[in-house]
Amino acid sequence: MEYTTLGRTGLRVSVAGLGTGGFSRLGLGTGKDEAHAIGIIHAALDLGVNLFDTAAAYGTEPVLGKALRGIARDQVVICTKAPFGISSSNATAERAVASLDRSLKELGTDHIDVYQLHGVSPAAYDHARDVIAPALLREKEKGKFHHLGITETGPGDLPHQMIQQACRDGLWEVAMIAFHMMHQNARTNVFPLTREHRVGTLLMFAVRNIFSQPGRLAASVRQLADAGELPRELAESSDPLGFLVHPGGASSVIDAAYRFVRHEPGVDVVLFGTGDIGHLHTNIDSLLKPPLPEADRARLAGVFGRLVGVGLDAPHLTPLSGRAKSD
Ligand SMILES: NC(=O)c1ccc[n+]([C@@H]2O[C@H](COP(=O)([O-])OP(=O)(O)OC[C@H]3O[C@@H](n4cnc5c(N)ncnc54)[C@H](OP(=O)(O)O)[C@@H]3O)[C@@H](O)[C@H]2O)c1
Repeated sequence: MEYTTLGRTGLRVSVAGLGTGGFSRLGLGTGKDEAHAIGIIHAALDLGVNLFDTAAAYGTEPVLGKALRGIARDQVVICTKAPFGISSSNATAERAVASLDRSLKELGTDHIDVYQLHGVSPAAYDHARDVIAPALLREKEKGKFHHLGITETGPGDLPHQMIQQACRDGLWEVAMIAFHMMHQNARTNVFPLTREHRVGTLLMFAVRNIFSQPGRLAASVRQLADAGELPRELAESSDPLGFLVHPGGASSVIDAAYRFVRHEPGVDVVLFGTGDIGHLHTNIDSLLKPPLPEADRARLAGVFGRLVGVGLDAPHLTPLSGRAKSD
């Protein structure tokens, strides 16, 4: 594993971080059981992963807490998030504090390393900064968490407006950002600011469904070509990103997707979500490989660099668990 410093938090973190949300939720999202999820977390630990991202909305705080019991607390960096409701304009400071206390209990820990507001829209941001953050920071003084973070809503904030403001405000030490091969605008809109203000970055949406489901990618490319946003030749291929896979290049589209984000200047940790032990191994391998060849990176920037908002789909409502959605 390779390690880096997470912005001005000073935390030493693995460049690969295990995400416990998204469509997989450690396999819980696809019908696997808790023992399987714990096995995924332990396999990640064995490979040197020390940063784990969860959220009240994912329902994975308890399993993460259970899996990490017995591991020295200073050997892992636990990131979790307030429920979505706390990121809305009518959330109260009292509810935010109660949520933090609930997360501590679910995780079975006495402190959280990075406590994040989850999916804050540009419209809700002022309330988050002026009402919720001050209340949380008082709890931080008591030691309940060490660093305050914020995550954007990928599909709800395509230009990354909220994160830009958050970087300038100086309150947030960590930001979670959507960036991938077909949604590259964080390169100009976000990373110069996170670097300037030394905000630690957690990268989400590196692969998601668009790159893990070949049919999904081909359909999206066809739609974009129909709309005149991509060259017609790409739409005629059943493997539109196949040009990335060649000797000396990527071994698969997913390999390319993780390597693409990993080496972007300004990216500290790439979150990867999986419920599959084989994927866990290959994804960490990918994240530790060198950058894609320069010619391939130039082609990705040239062909896809202007696209915005592709492939940012979210899991659907899951009324059984009472979660609003699991992102
Ligand atoms: N607003 C927010 O705060 C927010 C939003 C989105 C995500 N996140 C965080 O970011 C994390 C990462 O996002 P993500 O979960 O969407 O991760 P991702 O790494 O972009 O995509 C994971 C998806 O790709 C599949 N996959 C992964 N590796 C594969 C491989 N080698 N071959 C084939 N399929 C593969 C996974 O299914 P398998 O289980 O089959 O591997 C899963 O469906 C989340 O878990 C969460 O912690 C936060």
